Amino acid sequence: MTKKYYLTTPLYYVNAAPHIGHAYTTVAADVLARFMRQRGKSVHFLTGTDEHGAKIEKVAQEAGVSPQAYADKISAEFRELWAHLDVHYDDFIRTTEERHVAAVRKAFQALLKSGDIFKGRYEGFYCVSDETYWTKTEAPEDAKGRRLCPNPECRRPLETVQEDSYFFRLSRYQEKLLALYRDNPGFLMPTSRAPEILRFVEGGLQDISVSRTKVKWGIPVPGDEEHTIYVWFDALLNYASAVWDGPAPSPEFWPADVHIVGKEIYRFHAVIWPAMLMALGAPPPRRVFAHGWWTVEGEKMSKSKGNFVDPRHITAEFGVDALRYFLLREMPFGNDGDFSREAMKKRYNAELANDLGNLVNRTVDMVDRFLGGELPTKESAVPLSFLKNSPEKIEEALADNLENLGFSAALASIWSVIGELNAYINAESPWKIAKTDPERTRRVLFGLVQALRRVAGWLGPFMPQTAAKIQAQLGVRQFPAPLSAEEVLAGAEKGIGKIQKAPPLFPRKP
Ligand code: MSP
Repeated sequence: MTKKYYLTTPLYYVNAAPHIGHAYTTVAADVLARFMRQRGKSVHFLTGTDEHGAKIEKVAQEAGVSPQAYADKISAEFRELWAHLDVHYDDFIRTTEERHVAAVRKAFQALLKSGDIFKGRYEGFYCVSDETYWTKTEAPEDAKGRRLCPNPECRRPLETVQEDSYFFRLSRYQEKLLALYRDNPGFLMPTSRAPEILRFVEGGLQDISVSRTKVKWGIPVPGDEEHTIYVWFDALLNYASAVWDGPAPSPEFWPADVHIVGKEIYRFHAVIWPAMLMALGAPPPRRVFAHGWWTVEGEKMSKSKGNFVDPRHITAEFGVDALRYFLLREMPFGNDGDFSREAMKKRYNAELANDLGNLVNRTVDMVDRFLGGELPTKESAVPLSFLKNSPEKIEEALADNLENLGFSAALASIWSVIGELNAYINAESPWKIAKTDPERTRRVLFGLVQALRRVAGWLGPFMPQTAAKIQAQLGVRQFPAPLSAEEVLAGAEKGIGKIQKAPPLFPRKP
């Protein structure tokens, strides 16, 4: 049995409809999953929804429906959006599913038994919106005597909590966590964010409350059903419960290769989650990658501003692939970025309509006009020596970047080839030599077609529809997904039939 390449997104809360922030993480994971499949790996890509806790309880009550009914509706919206965005996950987990509930109860019991969970009394403060506990020193009273959530992005009033509670002995794992970070330099990614975690853990870890009596919408504590399990303790376990095999996650999947998360939930994933796994006797994940946040027109997306960007609004105007492209190209994964229609349109017109779209169009047009639609085959292929870097070199760069979630740099290296191909057309001007030098015209156009077939293969994980359209125009045999690297290459070499003219891939936007 070979271990699968196992990657995950966070489980999204079902309190509100999905927006581009959620699309960002999920599309990134999809690109990585598709890339790994293309390289012949057996991939397991997990996403899903986080459905318990005070936050969902509250919105459902306000809406006058049961939390389960509320969760059913929003969870379905997430799945519909992923289908719309061509996200091919292998499994979608909901924390209200029996397979998950059963695994969480097993894990809780095991930790009670080992003494990693114990009963005590919790006195402190709780932010329902962030589903996070705070101490009185972390959240001191302000001038008006209020305690507000210390998270600068939140600042909502905190709830005072005084109740019996179960605690997870996080303090036990400080040294082991520090050793994990030290011995596995690839664990905390991007490296620019590692210091914040190191400082936090070096500062000393407190045991954390992992149950509530006031929250009814949760998994009951086994044997003490007055308590429900803290929503984060419940939700983090999804990564294991989805691949559960008896008392632990199955070695066919575990350890996870990468958990992709937003920067605001890095601590939960880089500190609490590996400590929970250590307590359960399971190995930690191989990597936790915390990406940056999107603002919209310079502002944080929020309910009060009502400025959440609905991904469907963008795809209606620009198409699915353009949104996928923009999200991953705009800034390095790990950095923050700003979303605006203007920025989207700029990249769309310059990079998709002009650089890529025109290149394909011009090439197809010239092959039709000057070669009667003849396409290169494996036998008639020409060397691609006019390229500065060989396709193999570009593929190495792509692999290096994508293995480290460097999506933007990977796209930049593809666009460097696209730029070269456009310059090559201009320099060779086939329309000038078509009559006088048909041999050279044929060589130039074959080179362009061959190179573009490779480009389409590289674009596949990022823009699956566009890649398929280009391949269809250039006579590449269509394979059922997923494509291995060999299949992509074989398709790029073979060539079937004649060139197929098609409408522009990315019509310019005014
Ligand atoms: N339910 C928890 C996660 C539990 S994981 C075991 C949660 N859910 S959430 O619905 O709030 O989703 C948070 C995630 O959505 C972020 O970590 C990030 O992946 C994505 N994003 C939400 N807003 C975002 C931006 N504005 N920008 C980028 N990503 C954002 O937290």
